[in-house]
Amino acid sequence: MRVALVFSSKNGMAEWLRLKKTGEVTEEDGEPPPDMYAECDSDETIRAIIQALEERHEVVPVEADKDAYDRLRGARPDLVFNIAERLFGSSRESHIPVMCEVLDLPYTGSDPLTLGICLDKSRAKEILAYHGVPTPAFWTVEAGEPVPDAAALPAIVKPLYEGSSKGIADNCVVRTRSELEERASEISARYAQPVIVEKFLSGREFTVGLLGNPPRYEVLPIVEIDHGLLPRGANPIYSYEAKWIWDTPENPLPIFRCPADISAALEKKIRDVVERTCRLLRVRDWCRVDVRLDEKGEPNILEVNPLPGILPNPEENSCLPKAARTAGYTYSGLIHRVVEEAARRWGIRS
Ligand SMILES: Nc1ncnc2c1ncn2[C@@H]1O[C@H](COP(=O)(O)OP(=O)(O)O)[C@@H](O)[C@H]1O
Ligand SMILES: [Mg+2]
Repeated sequence: MRVALVFSSKNGMAEWLRLKKTGEVTEEDGEPPPDMYAECDSDETIRAIIQALEERHEVVPVEADKDAYDRLRGARPDLVFNIAERLFGSSRESHIPVMCEVLDLPYTGSDPLTLGICLDKSRAKEILAYHGVPTPAFWTVEAGEPVPDAAALPAIVKPLYEGSSKGIADNCVVRTRSELEERASEISARYAQPVIVEKFLSGREFTVGLLGNPPRYEVLPIVEIDHGLLPRGANPIYSYEAKWIWDTPENPLPIFRCPADISAALEKKIRDVVERTCRLLRVRDWCRVDVRLDEKGEPNILEVNPLPGILPNPEENSCLPKAARTAGYTYSGLIHRVVEEAARRWGIRS
C-alpha cells in the first residue's frame, strides 16, 4: 500500500506557529514555554515509524500543518497513519481525521468525534459517568470563573484539554482552598483554557494499552506506575517533571512495572473497565487508558488517550510500546498491527 504518515513534529509545529502569528516566517518572537512542544513527535519517533511502515509499504511523510490537506489530496494514499496531535484547541487532534474524511481517505485510529471527546477530559468523563463507569468526581472551571464551593479536597488541577502531562506539574495536587484557587487561575491563564478540578485519588496507578476493535479488543499487559519510587518529597502523580525531567534515557526513572504485580481479580476488574470505556467512547485500533484505584480499591478511569505516545526507544519509558513489548510485539509489529486493524475496518487489503 501507499501509506501517508501524518505527524506533528516539533520543528514543523514551531514553523506553523510562527506563520500563524505573523503571516510570514520571521525570527522567533520570545521563547515558548518549556512544555509547548511536549506532545509533538520527535524526529526519532517519526523515523522509527517510517522505518517500520517501509518494511511493507511505500511511505509518504506529511507534516500536519496548513499544507497537509493539499499534500494528502495530491498523494492519494491507500491509508493515512495518523499520529498528529497538533498544538492548540480542543479539536486539534480531530483536524487530520476530518481532512481524511473530506478526502475519502481511510485512516488509522479513532474518528474526529472520539478524539475530540477524549481530549476534553470533562466531556469524556461526562459520558463515562452517565454509563456508571467509575471516574473521579470533577468540576470544570471556565476561564475567569470561580472554583465551585463544592470542589472536594485534596484535589488535582489540570488543564482541560492538554496531554503528555502538559500543565500537570508536581504542585497541581492541592490540599487547601487557597492553593486550589491559585492553581486553577494560574493554569487557566497559562494554557488559555478552562481547568478541570478532580477529587484526588491516592491509590495505585496503572496505564493500560489496547489494540484492535470491538467485538474484542486485545488488552495489553497492564503497566503500574509506582509513585513510591519518585524522587523523595514529590507528590504521588505522574507529573510533567516525572515524565520529562526526572526520567531521561541515561537515567530512567524506575517507576514502571509491566506486567503489574496485581491479583487476578484486580487485573480482571481493570481490564473490564478499560474495555468498557473504549467501547463506550468508540475507540478504534489503538489506545492507552489511565486508571487509578479509589479508597475502596475500585479502578477509576483518569483519562483516555486514543492517540497514545509511542516513543521507540525502550529506555524512554513510553507505556504503550512497553506494554506491547511485554506482549511480544516488536516496535514494527505494533505499527503493523495498527495498520492491519485499520485496513480491516476500512475494507482495504493491507
Ligand atoms: N484524579 C486524580 N487523582 C490522582 N491522580 C491523578 C488524578 N488525575 C490525574 N492524576 C495524576 O496525574 C497524571 C497526569 O494526569 P492525566 O489526566 O493522565 O493527564 P495527561 O493527559 O497529561 O496524561 C496521572 O498519570 C496521575 O498520576
Ligand atoms: Mg495521562
